[in-house]
Amino acid sequence: MAFHCVRTMSRTLTTEMCSHPRLPMISRKKIAFLIILCFPCAITVWFLVSNNDDFDLCYYCFFKDRNYFALNLHYKKGHFTRVPEAHCKESPPFLVLLVTTTHKQEEERMVIRDTWGKERLIHGKRVVTFFLLGSPADPSTDEDVSLPEEFNNYHDIIQKDFIDTYYNLTIKTLMGIDWVMNFCPQTTYIMKTDTDMFVNTIYLVELLLRKNQTTHFFTGILKTNDSPIRHIFSKWYISKREFAGTKYPPFCSGTGYVFSVDVARRIYTISLSIPFFKLEDVYIGMCLNKLKISLQELHTSEVFFASKPIFSVCTYRNLVTAHELKPQEIALYWKALQQAQNESC
Ligand SMILES: *[C@@H]1O[C@H](CO)[C@@H](O)[C@H](O)[C@H]1NC(C)=O
Ligand SMILES: *[C@@H]1O[C@H](CO)[C@@H](O)[C@H](O)[C@H]1NC(C)=O
Repeated sequence: MAFHCVRTMSRTLTTEMCSHPRLPMISRKKIAFLIILCFPCAITVWFLVSNNDDFDLCYYCFFKDRNYFALNLHYKKGHFTRVPEAHCKESPPFLVLLVTTTHKQEEERMVIRDTWGKERLIHGKRVVTFFLLGSPADPSTDEDVSLPEEFNNYHDIIQKDFIDTYYNLTIKTLMGIDWVMNFCPQTTYIMKTDTDMFVNTIYLVELLLRKNQTTHFFTGILKTNDSPIRHIFSKWYISKREFAGTKYPPFCSGTGYVFSVDVARRIYTISLSIPFFKLEDVYIGMCLNKLKISLQELHTSEVFFASKPIFSVCTYRNLVTAHELKPQEIALYWKALQQAQNESC
């Protein structure tokens, strides 16, 4: 049927408009005007949102897990789905390294197994490494496919059935402590660290032996004056509902901290009465605060770094942790240290 017009519909309606219906053109001037008008509006809204503490309710509605505040004991306890055999009874370790990892970090785990995480005797003391994992955030992906084989080959993965996300790092860390309490309470020390770390286990054992404090001991990068970040777009944003105070209790940076096994046991017990808090290192600080366990320096000079010092044999021989290393760098630096063993600094 032909497209036709009723002339009487509107005086302005022309024949041409009827046969070729077109949207009215918006002029470039108008677009420019709209942009100029909207830009300050957007800036204002962003400013209001990012600096307003009371905005957190909306934030959680739209961006975050709504059940966030309801997280409870159940997930702290959880169920182990993979438990390695550590032979702690027969040969008690001096130091257990717990490394937080994610499913896709297989390459990182392989490099750590070959370098600082390799089971060995250091000054006659046994050092063992285990990787901490949750269950993949999206069970439909095949993230878990290669894991059974990896577990069978290395027997160094500790896993529970919580959803593995950054904001569940507290659960992951408590899982590690839970595992030590149940399967390896014979160890003297525990270290919690991450896959992008260089850990000079040799120097660490040396310093721990020199310090000779096997109870009430907690060390790392001491953070004694940190405040919650109230900027809403920060990865570490904390609302006033999550933490009302202006200062966190003293804690050690999550990049790497070391503690005696009695402290681990006490943290695990007290954690059942301390509400979930998503920043794992701060959470451990809250536990220590309640337990009245103070943080200590391991050495008179700085040995834990949350940065990546420029590599030299002498620098890395005299540090315990360096941060933000790629697997290749870890491998390279470790090899260089091994090869330079007999050189003096
Ligand atoms: C943490 O894990 C629990 C248990 O699996 C899950 O219900 C929750 O959604 C997870 N939280 C985040 C922020 O992913
Ligand atoms: C370590 O400390 C204990 C007591 O706390 C002491 O008996 C022991 O001799 C010390 N060992 C070394 C090597 O200093």
